[in-house]
Amino acid sequence: MPAQPAFEKILAEASSRLGAASRLAEVEELRIRYLGRKGVLTEALRSLKTLPPAQRRAAGQAGNAAKQALEGQLFAAAARFTTPQPVRSVDVTVPLHDHQPGHLHPISLVLAELEEIFGSLGFSVVEGPEVEDAWHNFEALNMGSDHPARDMQDTFYVKGSDRPKGEFRILPRTHTSGVQIRTMETEEPPLRIIVPGRVYRNEAEDATHGAVFHQLEGLMVDQATSFADLKGILLTMAQRLLGADTKLRFRPSFFPYTEPSAEIDMSAPNVRDGAWIELGGAGMVHPDVLERVGYDPDVFQGFAFGIGPGRLAMLKYGIQDLRELYKPDIRIMEQF
Ligand code: PHE
Repeated sequence: MPAQPAFEKILAEASSRLGAASRLAEVEELRIRYLGRKGVLTEALRSLKTLPPAQRRAAGQAGNAAKQALEGQLFAAAARFTTPQPVRSVDVTVPLHDHQPGHLHPISLVLAELEEIFGSLGFSVVEGPEVEDAWHNFEALNMGSDHPARDMQDTFYVKGSDRPKGEFRILPRTHTSGVQIRTMETEEPPLRIIVPGRVYRNEAEDATHGAVFHQLEGLMVDQATSFADLKGILLTMAQRLLGADTKLRFRPSFFPYTEPSAEIDMSAPNVRDGAWIELGGAGMVHPDVLERVGYDPDVFQGFAFGIGPGRLAMLKYGIQDLRELYKPDIRIMEQF
């Protein structure tokens, strides 16, 4: 029958050697000698599995106790040869001189202001998923899989999401308009929401277009909501954000989910000499869209708009190129 390992003897021997150690390197040698991969105590512990089960438990406890004791002694011995470093006290009340405090990104600043302005007009903030299904992103907004308007936004799909029915495909959302649908599916009118968020498109980038950018979508549905309300709300927003001399211009346009539809431009005197800059799209929610989510289009009307906080930040802070806002360049961000 295999003998029980003599844990106490091993521990006593290790202790006396540790007591005689005169350098940190010797302590380390002893650690390896006893607790290394082939160390004396390690081997003894390993041999426990050859014992008959009846003895294994008690011997195991003795072994673990010896190991713990030795680890403690090694730590104490090492401490004898290590000079403690004084803890440097830090006076947290001393004011910082060479440090510039951080600040929010210009887009976050504009979004916060927009949330406040729309909040004061009765709109609440809703968020939706950044990875959307084609039903909410396209189909429910009157863009079936063969609708030509889809080409303008059609983008990359999540690999493996190709199921037989097109509406189950999954994609990084191309606009925040899917959240209109999500909200109307679960809530009854009247409704006033804004939806801020990041969107993704297959886009040729230039000074005012990015492939990843932020949108803020708005939706209002009630029993007597008109295009005039849309214009009034957007003008209020633009003038509160950018100043009373900001102008808006509405051009006839087309979106499959609004009728009539418009493209909105804005102009502020201090940016690009008051040149018109595209702000986004808008229109009256198409009756088919209302019907699809179970709202009665004979009773309810609504408007929707989608605007670019990045473009608003350009106007507010006099930024010439939208792409600067998405560069991790501290020299640019420090200018705001
Ligand atoms: N979703 C449109 C876009 O991304 C903007 C829009 C929103 C237009 C709501 C009409 C109504 O360009």
